[in-house]
Amino acid sequence: PNTTGLIFAMREEQEGLESFIQNKQVHQIAKRRFIQGQLWGHPVVMVLAGIGKVAAASTTSLLIHHFQINQLILSGVAGAADPALKVGDIVIARELLQHDMNASPLFPRFEIPLTGKSRFFVNKNLHLELQKATTLFVQNIQKYIPESLRKEWDLMKIEMYSGLVASGDQFIHEAAIVNQLKKELPDLLALEMEGAAIAQVCDEHDLEFAILRTISDNANETASIDFQSFVNQIAAPYTVGILKNYFEN
Ligand code: ADE
Repeated sequence: PNTTGLIFAMREEQEGLESFIQNKQVHQIAKRRFIQGQLWGHPVVMVLAGIGKVAAASTTSLLIHHFQINQLILSGVAGAADPALKVGDIVIARELLQHDMNASPLFPRFEIPLTGKSRFFVNKNLHLELQKATTLFVQNIQKYIPESLRKEWDLMKIEMYSGLVASGDQFIHEAAIVNQLKKELPDLLALEMEGAAIAQVCDEHDLEFAILRTISDNANETASIDFQSFVNQIAAPYTVGILKNYFEN
């Protein structure tokens, strides 16, 4: 049967999901724990990659070469780059780009040298399946996040977005940097540190992938505080809720 690789950057983003794993087998490779088993009847291998593009790329490569995965999903948080997005909204990447790639004037800004590529595209069908799962999650949010917490965090109306997500080895915490990136990339929705690295490795191996992000902060001057409390308090149920709806449908 088809095995899904599940990749996380932070422990808090993975937490919660591990308790649902059945027939658990643990493999230790390259200082990482690969947890193999079933989630809601579906074969998976999940792993905590760590933060940043190198951690994400090397872990993706390990998942591909040590396990027979046929698709890969990352679930985690991101900073908003578009002013329409609020903390608690969900972004399903349709395209990914490395915003810290800049070999100009040798190659166009953002282009990965000698590949001719700056953007990586998510498989349409997998994207659609995740949209469906996310819609179900949002409709049944009370099953996953208690009302008191939703009120406290102003999560009474969660929106779902699809579009461009940019990755780089920087935690963005300045409005001026977001504005500059937004000027260069008008369709940019969110900023994070792994998605486009996973996308590049999956592209090299013709493997389907998807990047699922919940907005934890606005990548501005209060980002580090907003990010920490979001990750500590509510990141986990988003991952559990969306992936449960994905595997059960
Ligand atoms: N992940 C969550 N928030 C982020 C930010 N502001 N910058 C980079 N990655 C993030």
